[in-house]
Amino acid sequence: MQVVNIGVLGLGTVGSGVVRLLKDHEHKISSITGRKLVVKTVVVHNLEKKRDVDLTGIKVTNDIKELINDDEINIVVEVMGTVTTAKEYIELLLRAGKHIITANKDLIATHGSELAELADQNKCDLFYEASVAGGIPILRTIVNSFAADRIIEVKGIVNGTTNYILTKMSQNNMSFADALKSAQELGFAEPDPTNDIEGIDAAYKMIILTQFAFGINIALDDIEVKGINGIDLEDIKQAKSLGYNIKLLGIAKLINDRISVAVGPVLVPETQPLSAVQNENNAVLVTGAAVGETMFYGPGAGEMPTANSVLSDIIAVTKDIVLETTGNRFNDFSREGKQALPDEIKYPYYISLKVKDRPGQMLKITEVMTELNASFHLIIQSEYDDVNARVVMTTHKMSEQQIKEIIKEIDNLEEIEVIASYRILSE
Ligand code: HSE
Repeated sequence: MQVVNIGVLGLGTVGSGVVRLLKDHEHKISSITGRKLVVKTVVVHNLEKKRDVDLTGIKVTNDIKELINDDEINIVVEVMGTVTTAKEYIELLLRAGKHIITANKDLIATHGSELAELADQNKCDLFYEASVAGGIPILRTIVNSFAADRIIEVKGIVNGTTNYILTKMSQNNMSFADALKSAQELGFAEPDPTNDIEGIDAAYKMIILTQFAFGINIALDDIEVKGINGIDLEDIKQAKSLGYNIKLLGIAKLINDRISVAVGPVLVPETQPLSAVQNENNAVLVTGAAVGETMFYGPGAGEMPTANSVLSDIIAVTKDIVLETTGNRFNDFSREGKQALPDEIKYPYYISLKVKDRPGQMLKITEVMTELNASFHLIIQSEYDDVNARVVMTTHKMSEQQIKEIIKEIDNLEEIEVIASYRILSE
């Protein structure tokens, strides 16, 4: 049987999983592809580090040239992370005619178009199924199974770390700091969890999902991003008492044929399926004009789930090599798209305030709401501390422009402080 040689760049959690899975499922993979897939060379940063994966027969080096200059290597799996160095290496590898598989969403979200262009020029495949929602096969599903439909909305939980933290806060009354520590110990969080908790990791994934679902290229600056840092356990409990779970959602939708993409904490009704997604799991809800609402659920991070997505790419490239069809883009759908206007993006909102507990305060809040033509749905007051009350309001639908103005005006009021303002997902 002919051999397809694979190089692996980076031997952390995902890299080890890829090596392990290729060995464990060797026979099934050969019978599907008609080729024997062999990991020939692994490039690592630290040659001394002890690895808990069997590397028998694999060359381990710290020299990228061992991949670039080896004519026998057909496919390189980049799982080293970082943006600048990974980009530089991938460019060299594409120019050397290697097909690339990467799990690097930061890189694809920021430089995906130019890398796809370079892959085209060199008749190489560039696949990145593992970059979004770890083990959920969402990108290839959008390309293949939604090809004939018109996607209207893609929304979901695309960051495992934050979903784990919010689950633990909600179910175990854990503090944010303790829940984050636990996520790091379990290996879901990135080594530096800033991007996870500030919503940037989810935003990168939404950039890629938006490109696949709507064919529209957007940048990080085009996304309204809020993280979960500073989220208050009391708001999680309050939302729960109203029948909602707070989830960090990415929402990309077409409004009057313009695109709106946002990442932030959202109150999700308990009856909505995304509400039931717990711990490090992810779920992506794709709404097509023809098919309606579909949901894809699974582990969003971790060694073997992510490695499985990488393996699906390896098999796709191998089939292209056999059929001599390499060099086609992962996603061909591309069109011009304008950003939705702030006054056409409308949601109900949850607003939580710390208010000095004395007469006349509610009137000040009501005046702001009235001036800006915004309507309350309900108002709840509870104790914050000895001198302050917590006032929680939910509103009827209002535009992004209205909510921004309301928050600004309320924040300007003396003795009133905005703790949080979150979208509410209508059922
Ligand atoms: N840190 C990411 C998450 C996993 O928590 O979802 C890799 O994308």
